[in-house]
Amino acid sequence: MTELKGRDFLSILDLSAAEMEVVFDLARELKHKQKNGVAHPLCAGKTLAMIFQKPSTRTRVSFEVGMYQLGGQALYLNAADLQLGRGETVADTARVLSRFVDGIMIRTFKQSDVEELARFAAVPVINGLTDWEHPCQIMADLLTILEHKGRLAGLKLAYVGDGNNIAHSLLLGGTRMGMRVAVASPPGYAPNPELVDRAAAEAARSGGAVELTTDPAAAVRDADVVVTDTWASMGQEAEHEVRRVVFGPYQVNEALVRHARPDYIFMHCLPAHRGEEVVDAVMDGPNSVVWDEAENRLHVQKALLALLL
Ligand code: CP
Ligand code: NVA
Repeated sequence: MTELKGRDFLSILDLSAAEMEVVFDLARELKHKQKNGVAHPLCAGKTLAMIFQKPSTRTRVSFEVGMYQLGGQALYLNAADLQLGRGETVADTARVLSRFVDGIMIRTFKQSDVEELARFAAVPVINGLTDWEHPCQIMADLLTILEHKGRLAGLKLAYVGDGNNIAHSLLLGGTRMGMRVAVASPPGYAPNPELVDRAAAEAARSGGAVELTTDPAAAVRDADVVVTDTWASMGQEAEHEVRRVVFGPYQVNEALVRHARPDYIFMHCLPAHRGEEVVDAVMDGPNSVVWDEAENRLHVQKALLALLL
């Protein structure tokens, strides 16, 4: 394992399986300390800049609160209010922010913008969601699965819905940890084929598997974990009505989850669109762990911040 200090976290694959375990271990320790009132100022005196080019509830609040709990500070920067919004380059923004802060978190559209920011920043850069990946979310998801199931390797995770950023990071992160990841999406909405090949290579190494299908019941059959996400991601608002029709048969409802193992857990990165990708009976049902999942954003990101910054 190489030193984590100073590294970027742009893709879930930026962490090896062993490094992910280190993050999960520290996350659990910090979670315990936070709940028991034990101070853990691992980022004392440090500042995180958080650039947002899209809306956020969980990512903003969990990073901001996380930095406070670690003894540091976080700066919320709406991209529209930065000179970035008036044409200052990503590279120059990276160079300048690096003179002020100890780390940069960014939520934007293009993965290539996050990569460019990281190339020119002298401080670690963390991907807080792009159209391509959402690695912090999937670290929280994997921690939540570990807490509820006690292991990752060998479990079957079924993702039902759009082959989007969440599907991408789940495919890569799940297979890296030895999980069977089954994805059911409508024709034309499957995950990126090159990324799927990469996940298949991970699975071949780890003993996991990748299964792509258009049949939601086939994906969910005997699953330990059932996951879905919005049918129209941020930036795809204009496609919402078309997508509502296309994705109708992919709703996670009581009939669909009957195909999963009786002790399956339901997960959703949130925000949920109740009555679209998931119904209340599943989201609020006994198998749902969505609030634990949301809470774990805080703990896993604190571990990442303490290790990277
Ligand atoms: N899951 C997630 O990233 O939520 P926000 O868009 O609220 O940050
Ligand atoms: N796929 C969703 C995730 C939101 C956290 C989006 O990109 O909008």
